[in-house]
Amino acid sequence: MSSLLPLYTHLSGVIKHLENIRCPQVIMEKVSWIYRMRGRRRALDIITLLIINTMCLVLILKIFAPEHCEKITSPKSVREAQPPESTSCEQNMSATKIEGFFDFPLIIQDFLYYRHCRQFPMLLNLPNKCNIPKGSGETFFLLAIKSSPKNYERRAVLRKTWAAERWQNGMRIRTVFLTGTTGVGFEKKRINKLLKLENNKYKDILQWDFTESFYNLTLKQILFLDWMQNWCPTADFFLNGDDDVFANTENMVDFLKGKGDIDGSRHLYIGHLLLDSEPIRDNSSKYFIPEVIEASNLYDPYCSGGGYLFSRFTGRAIYQMSQSIPLMPIDDVYMGMCLKQAGLTPSDHQGVWADGLIIPSDKMDIYDPCHYKDIILGHKFLPHQIFLLWNEIHRKDLNCAKKELSH
Ligand SMILES: *[C@@H]1O[C@H](CO)[C@@H](O)[C@H](O)[C@H]1NC(C)=O
Ligand SMILES: *[C@@H]1O[C@H](CO)[C@@H](O)[C@H](O)[C@H]1NC(C)=O
Ligand SMILES: *[C@@H]1O[C@H](CO)[C@@H](O)[C@H](O)[C@H]1NC(C)=O
Repeated sequence: MSSLLPLYTHLSGVIKHLENIRCPQVIMEKVSWIYRMRGRRRALDIITLLIINTMCLVLILKIFAPEHCEKITSPKSVREAQPPESTSCEQNMSATKIEGFFDFPLIIQDFLYYRHCRQFPMLLNLPNKCNIPKGSGETFFLLAIKSSPKNYERRAVLRKTWAAERWQNGMRIRTVFLTGTTGVGFEKKRINKLLKLENNKYKDILQWDFTESFYNLTLKQILFLDWMQNWCPTADFFLNGDDDVFANTENMVDFLKGKGDIDGSRHLYIGHLLLDSEPIRDNSSKYFIPEVIEASNLYDPYCSGGGYLFSRFTGRAIYQMSQSIPLMPIDDVYMGMCLKQAGLTPSDHQGVWADGLIIPSDKMDIYDPCHYKDIILGHKFLPHQIFLLWNEIHRKDLNCAKKELSH
């Protein structure tokens, strides 16, 4: 009882306070000029009209605000709104019947259990990323960068350097980061919150509700191709790459414009070409692929996964082929398999380096900007190296003439 007493006195205080607010009277005073001018009936009509107008205005604003536009026009937002649990994909228990299944490393077992799962709900989507004015004749280059949810620093640097959204030599560059989820429980929630915050600010994150892992990179690739087909079918060219590459997107644009096919309607797939790559059958290797996943002892030609460029035509062809080709864990190899099935071949570009920093001479600084000015893409860079190099190659006083002669 004693504890209820202060509560009661508090409540009665609140009620007294409420009694002191005399809302109706305030309103009456405010509209009294209407009464005087038009009489009571007229005044009520006007008030009703005002209320209806205000409601209409609010409704119109809601409909035309960009995020609501997306909700109304996009059929996929229904899928987004569903709780992730309801769309989770069942484990394939028949996988255990595969000969020697329990001798496979656990990660391969896990892959085989979920190999058939291709649909995952989107946690973050960007339905308007590729909405460009129709008939404005713009050529358009989309950078799709695979990034682990935790790699905040990498994304922050890329936004300030080669992946910055901009016009480049008459070509519009736009960027999306491709992410899954990491962690469980509070950690997963915390990281999802980070991505959401980033997306609110930069509008450049696509996130699906699957677990990030090396073995799920192909899944990420396929989900992106699916997204591309649904939400960005108009872009002409694409760069698919990792968040630790140094991509000279200026040189890429020049290269693409030089190809003559300016609208992406012809076949193009270039990168660091690998022709005679074989599946690794040693089960202690990170790249171990058992026969049950890939029976052939030779991979189809493919471009190393750090980064490759392709046209809209080729992206579509790969997407269509992927529908009927079972997933295999190595994403760049999988792209090669799809190309083969489509009767297309990948090509090599001398300006794409797969193996990190190449030191041409020990008298030369490995970060010498002149060395990177003409490349298209290099792998395995740290965020600070990317920031430094990007700024160095744009130095006004950079003079590389002498160095080029000595090559
Ligand atoms: C489940 O795995 C078995 C063995 O690999 C396979 O034959 C079957 O097609 C898989 N089922 C699904 C739904 O993918
Ligand atoms: C590799 O395979 C052998 C059987 O072929 C098995 O005994 C061993 O545990 C496997 N190693 C790993 C890391 O899975
Ligand atoms: C891939 O993602 C699915 C869905 O989150 C998960 O069940 C599976 O364990 C992941 N696969 C690997 C090999 O990490």
